[in-house]
Amino acid sequence: MSSADAIAVSGVTHSYGDVTAVGPIDLTVPPGEFLVLVGASGCGKSTLLRLIAGFEQPTTGTVLTNGTAPVPGRGAGLVFQQPRLFPWKTVGGNIALALRYAGRPVTDERVDDLLRRVGLHDVAKRRIWQISGGQQQRVAIARALAVENPLLLLDEPFAALDALTREKLQDDLRQVSASTGRTSVFVTHSVDEAVFLGSRVVVLTPRPGTIALDLTIDLPRTGIAADELRGLPEFAALRAEVGHAIRDRVTV
Ligand SMILES: Nc1ncnc2c1ncn2[C@@H]1O[C@H](COP(=O)(O)OP(=O)(O)O)[C@@H](O)[C@H]1O
Ligand SMILES: [Mg+2]
Repeated sequence: MSSADAIAVSGVTHSYGDVTAVGPIDLTVPPGEFLVLVGASGCGKSTLLRLIAGFEQPTTGTVLTNGTAPVPGRGAGLVFQQPRLFPWKTVGGNIALALRYAGRPVTDERVDDLLRRVGLHDVAKRRIWQISGGQQQRVAIARALAVENPLLLLDEPFAALDALTREKLQDDLRQVSASTGRTSVFVTHSVDEAVFLGSRVVVLTPRPGTIALDLTIDLPRTGIAADELRGLPEFAALRAEVGHAIRDRVTV
């Protein structure tokens, strides 16, 4: 562990009553990394993410983000499977609220800039209930980027979307990530999504989740179209490696 780590998880376990959900886990994430946690349902991915967000306390071990104990709701931008927006407010209004909550100045320029990053500047005045599910999830991502702290934590954010919308959002998140350089932890059970988005992929074992595989994804992150990337032989090889690591551990 070095003090420069964006996230440092050391000897962490977490139990709900007498059920151990995760651990022991040691994991450090340097600034700017896009880490994807992948594993079967129930293996403890969300628990680990909530520990990093500070919503749960480790039963043993320590979690540090940017060198200090995480403060729930403050230290990171969070995106969940359901966007959890204020439906009666406008798109811009939801972002303005997030800026205010994050303690940042609220200006039209800032709201506009955040919406532009996720391709939504033209719907700023619409109400949340007037836009599609994919657009709502884009608002949730823009809202998470409103937090000044650079940690972005995403828990299966695209799982409820149709396949085409999901691919489009993956492409766009990849670009947002490359342009903002945010340290991110993205949880999914999709192997394809993991290899497409991650600069690093960590496979967890079934509960209690421990690290089964920790893989650097050495694929180009800029200057390549999504289709081209998905078509690379290296992409297929990495997907196979991650897929094997998951299947090897799952007993049905
Ligand atoms: N609040 C809770 N109380 C009790 N058990 C829980 C709670 N949250 C999760 N669990 C259990 O902990 C394990 C890991 O859950 P979770 O972290 O949600 O896994 P995943 O996100 O990988 O599906 C599961 O067996 C789940 O049932
Ligand atoms: Mg989960």
